[in-house]
Amino acid sequence: MTLLELEDVTAFYGPVQVLEGVSLSVPEGGAVGILGANGAGKTTTLRAITGVVRAGGKITFDGKDIRGKRPEQVAAIGIAHVPEGRGTLSDLTVRENLRVGAYLRKDRKGIESDIEYLLDLFPNLKERYRSHGSALSGGEQQMLAVARAFMARPRLLLLDEASLGLAPSTAKNVYDAIRRLRAESGIAMLVVEQNANLALGLVDTATVLEVGRNVLTGTSAELRGMDEIRRAYLGG
Ligand SMILES: Nc1ncnc2c1ncn2[C@@H]1O[C@H](COP(=O)(O)OP(=O)(O)O)[C@@H](O)[C@H]1O
Ligand SMILES: [Mg+2]
Repeated sequence: MTLLELEDVTAFYGPVQVLEGVSLSVPEGGAVGILGANGAGKTTTLRAITGVVRAGGKITFDGKDIRGKRPEQVAAIGIAHVPEGRGTLSDLTVRENLRVGAYLRKDRKGIESDIEYLLDLFPNLKERYRSHGSALSGGEQQMLAVARAFMARPRLLLLDEASLGLAPSTAKNVYDAIRRLRAESGIAMLVVEQNANLALGLVDTATVLEVGRNVLTGTSAELRGMDEIRRAYLGG
């Protein structure tokens, strides 16, 4: 069943239109990538879903129209957003960040067991449990941002450039853990990346954006096999 559907979505910053018609579909438990160069409209697509920018077209989640809902309403229906630049709370400890992520939940036992699970998934965070967000490395902050979003137990995780600014080995660690999270939880994901290699190792299908519209959509294997994708996004 389709969980999230975008059909011909447009988006605007003030009077300036930056999405010209983006369509994509995330099945329940599926993972879909959004690839594309800097400025293509990847982040804006996520912002259209979360209600941060004004959007046109059709955006449905679980069959319901969510276009124009406020960000907190979108979060409450089960969509968690890990924004570009991570958005962890630097004045709070790892422990406090994880608890903030769970603020809408009442199942105390579930919260405790999810924290344990995430500290096992991200051993770095276990070591840094009492440290402030500001004291963490870039990779640790990214792990914390993902873990905090998961603490809301969303049905869909929106991930924006989880590899940005990280050393290649750190970025790979982060993606390995996200892949395990996906396999073990069955959570659906919409994954924005400039690093197509990492993204295609995680998602089932992906779409390529160019100046605010889809130009190509296919399975990860199909996209890896295309010369133009290899040249533009896979380093050869
Ligand atoms: N806050 C903003 N105000 C005006 N224009 C913006 C804003 N954020 C992004 N843009 C413009 O929207 C376009 C798409 O940006 P963005 O979605 O951030 O691209 P990507 O995430 O693919 O790099 C770019 O041309 C960018 O300059
Ligand atoms: Mg972006």
